[in-house]
Amino acid sequence: MKPKISKAVFPVAGLGTRFLPATKASPKEMLPIVDKPLIQYAVEEAVAAGIDTMVFVTGRNKRAIPDHFDKAYELEMELEKSGKTKLLEMLRNMIPEHISCVFIRQSEALGLGHAVLCARPVVGDEPFAVILADDLIEDADRGCMAQMTALFEQQSHSILGVEPVDPSETDKYGIVEIEQAGERVGKLQTIVEKPKPEQAPSNLAVVGRYILTPAIFDKLEKTQRGAGGEIQLTDAIADLMNDEPVLSYQFEGNRYDCGSKLGYVIANVEHALLHDDIKDEFIAYLRSMTL
Ligand code: G1P
Repeated sequence: MKPKISKAVFPVAGLGTRFLPATKASPKEMLPIVDKPLIQYAVEEAVAAGIDTMVFVTGRNKRAIPDHFDKAYELEMELEKSGKTKLLEMLRNMIPEHISCVFIRQSEALGLGHAVLCARPVVGDEPFAVILADDLIEDADRGCMAQMTALFEQQSHSILGVEPVDPSETDKYGIVEIEQAGERVGKLQTIVEKPKPEQAPSNLAVVGRYILTPAIFDKLEKTQRGAGGEIQLTDAIADLMNDEPVLSYQFEGNRYDCGSKLGYVIANVEHALLHDDIKDEFIAYLRSMTL
């Protein structure tokens, strides 16, 4: 039987300090791109990849995320009463019925590696996906995670989504060195968290998409605090590479770095141009701006 990825972990316990005060009382993953929060794009990408269990690792101020994916009885009743059937349908069909959502609380913000480890009791002994919602990835076709699960069905190894970045920006990412193993596929030789440009082994950056074998959990249990004093997923992956191959996959599609203000604003502008209800007026407005 082909290996199947059925669970996705969404670490959503970060403090989101770059977006304060917007993230003072609400998680950064709830920031909207036009009218849909980042976390919903991420969940839709997982659904498109055939994943049916969404595991959210939440922290303080994260009640908005369970609420977002829960039924909103009062709101539905109001919409029904006022005959807003289109909106009602949209709310009711936000996620397909067969999808389950599980919420785990990460009580201390000890880093991405620690957040992934918190999901162990739910994930168990299966390969799984990790999606970081602040990397919004769009491809016109099936979605980044679906591309990666298709590769996993052939290879059964851990896979990291990667993209070349400007060499001056290596200190914002996990950076890999690979041996090319296919058109978009590489075999990891090195991985290092946020190296300075002069120390970076390449400019190939890990983006927020991972498929990991369950062996990562034992590695995470042993991982000491690394860059920024946090338990880094990157360090556990470096350890995993000693035991099994880890692949990189250069995805098809556009990534918007919604963890940065500029990337977030660009994502909003580009998505606004895709919204039929505002597109024409928005284009007219942009044209009228004299910069
Ligand atoms: C995390 C990871 C980093 C990865 C990045 C992708 O960093 O630690 O390896 O390249 O996500 O967005 P963060 O952006 O949480 O600092």
